[in-house]
Amino acid sequence: MSQVHISQHPLVLHKLTVLRDATTDHRAFRELVRELALLLCYEATQDLQLSPKTVMTPMGEAEGHKAEDKIGLVPVLRAGLGLVEGVMELLPSVQVWHIGLYRDEKTLRPVQYYNRLPTEPTVNVCLVLDPMLATGGSAVATIDILKKWGVTKIKYLGLIAAPEGVERLTTAHPDVPIHVAAVDERLNEIGFIVPGLGDAGDRQFGT
Ligand code: PRP
Repeated sequence: MSQVHISQHPLVLHKLTVLRDATTDHRAFRELVRELALLLCYEATQDLQLSPKTVMTPMGEAEGHKAEDKIGLVPVLRAGLGLVEGVMELLPSVQVWHIGLYRDEKTLRPVQYYNRLPTEPTVNVCLVLDPMLATGGSAVATIDILKKWGVTKIKYLGLIAAPEGVERLTTAHPDVPIHVAAVDERLNEIGFIVPGLGDAGDRQFGT
């Protein structure tokens, strides 16, 4: 479980609680998703590669750093879209590559409907963005696609995970760190995380 990072930041814990609340409306929900994405991104990027860089301050030379990684955000449509803006506030020059997957309601298996990745990888680090890690099927399928594309350094960034999803993702991709705000109790019989927050896509987009 060492690849699973559950944020303990007080702001994350506070905002996640408001997010879960069934009385939180769509507008507030979207804003909280954005803020949580920013906070979790800060924690998930602690190991980015740096190179030395010297700048001139008004008082003289200062030795500093330059972030070197070429980062790609991979939001899983559609609920992952809400995480993009918050992450881009910290990482304004990332590339964004959308992957469209939905979960078949009966089988709970992911069905791909959008993927426009170019033949060759254009980034060396990918952050997979999806608020909910339920069975783990969507995350595993997305990471399978990214590894086939040729990216080796991949992180999963989400809001709430079920133990079942964590187990599936860590088994399939033990090299992929998982950054979330919480790991909840369980999945229910229709594949929803309990207590979770309901359907993250529906709550963001009012559907
Ligand atoms: C939800 C969620 C994840 C997936 C998680 O998406 O946003 O993508 O389910 O489930 P899994 O871990 O069992 O694969 P959904 O299929 O509801 O589509 P949406 O984002 O369009 O709402």
